[in-house]
Amino acid sequence: MKNLAVIVLAAGKGTRMKSTRPKVLHEVAGKPMLFYPLAIMEELKAGRVAVVIGHGADDVKAAFPSKKIGFVLQKEQLGTGHAVATALKSLSDFSGDVLVLSGDVPLITKETVSAFLKLHRAGGRSRPALSLITMALDAPKGYGRVVRDEDRAVVRIVEDKDCTPGERHINEVNSGIYVFRSDFLFSAIKKIGRNNAQGEYYLPDLIALAVAKGLNVKALTHADPEEVMGINNRVELARAAVVMRRRINESLMMEGVTIIDPEHTYIDHGVKIGADTVVYPGAHIKGATVIGESVVIEEGVRIVDSKIGPSTAIKSYSIVEESVLGNKAQIGPLARLRPGNVIEDQARIGNFVEVKKTRIGKGSKVNHLSYIGDAVIGESVNIGAGTITCNYDGVHKHRTTIEDNAFIGSDSQLVAPVTIGKGAYVGSGTTVTKDVPPDALVITRTKERVIEGWARKKRAEKK
Ligand code: UD1
Ligand code: CA
Repeated sequence: MKNLAVIVLAAGKGTRMKSTRPKVLHEVAGKPMLFYPLAIMEELKAGRVAVVIGHGADDVKAAFPSKKIGFVLQKEQLGTGHAVATALKSLSDFSGDVLVLSGDVPLITKETVSAFLKLHRAGGRSRPALSLITMALDAPKGYGRVVRDEDRAVVRIVEDKDCTPGERHINEVNSGIYVFRSDFLFSAIKKIGRNNAQGEYYLPDLIALAVAKGLNVKALTHADPEEVMGINNRVELARAAVVMRRRINESLMMEGVTIIDPEHTYIDHGVKIGADTVVYPGAHIKGATVIGESVVIEEGVRIVDSKIGPSTAIKSYSIVEESVLGNKAQIGPLARLRPGNVIEDQARIGNFVEVKKTRIGKGSKVNHLSYIGDAVIGESVNIGAGTITCNYDGVHKHRTTIEDNAFIGSDSQLVAPVTIGKGAYVGSGTTVTKDVPPDALVITRTKERVIEGWARKKRAEKK
């Protein structure tokens, strides 16, 4: 947008969060809450941007490594007015409109901000000195109240802590989202004082300053208070997360994903899911996960940073982390895929199977109670129940290779590094320590003996 600068306020400590983490890094649907206003900032393509950071500045910077974000350090957090004054130092040559967003108002949408800017700018050269978004709340506690005169014109904002008992009953509140004409902002910002309950420079004091100068102030009352909800404590954090998840789930459902119980399905912002996929309650789908079409994700499944091919099924209570799964694969129930796996088409991983840094070829099966780590497994391999790749010698990790069509009998240990050749058989209960050539049988069991009557004799001894 032309002649637009955006300032995002994110320097505050967030005392009410009672946390060692800066408030704006607390997560809402898998992203630090600051992610959301920054995303709007980027989408608006403003000519100039300034993100004010202070408390935990290094952590905040580290969480947003994009070069496009211009951080400004507010060393001491003396209030929102002081924060904007600090940001203006980096915008001193700017002329136009300055939009101010709060780092702790993550539910505001780009549509609302764009509509707000449009309204503000409608007057052209005679547009207001400042516009702000307000909302009516049943429980306005904690917010700045909008004081209006007999003609319903906005006169000033009074902070919760500075309210008279009468003002406390006002239920129209300040959202903390404003747009200022730069000429007004540059001159008025210097005039804010700190004679108030918190001894801070309050940005909303600019409203009374504009009114005193006879300048026009426009208040846009937003119909949906949810969007402008500020997060100051963990109760509000949880409430905001509910709203964000609902938005995410509804947009996925509109795109053709079935979510059986959207209120109990936890999908992070940015996760992609194809049409006709069904997600059961209690699923957590996180990070940069991409899920194909017609996938089934059963109850209690946790998927993190993974790619799941079409028509694959992840059955109840399975965990899939940093793995790539092909088409028509079947995982679980109760399987654990630790990071670094590639599971090819139609492969099956069953219950109580742990797999790590392993490639499992097309149509291969590890159906029960196994540990497969640092392995490369070919196509159509059958791995019996209780198979263990002994990949760690206490110092180093070693690779197990199992070639196409091999059969691993139940309860075998494959002591890596070791290769089982194409089509080879490992007899049940074998400990393999040497490479097995293709089509061979390896078996390390001792010869089975049957001693007739042995048990009867033993019982007789007892008497
Ligand atoms: C602020 C408004 C209040 C409004 C509410 C809406 C003020 C004085 N009050 O109150 O009218 O109803 O937002 O959510 O502005 N920040 C800095 N530097 C500072 C202080 C704050 O960057 O020195 C940042 C915070 O990180 C936060 C934002 O500014 O992202 C708002 O600060 P906060 O302390 O949460 O203000 P509220 O008390 O919520
Ligand atoms: Ca706040």
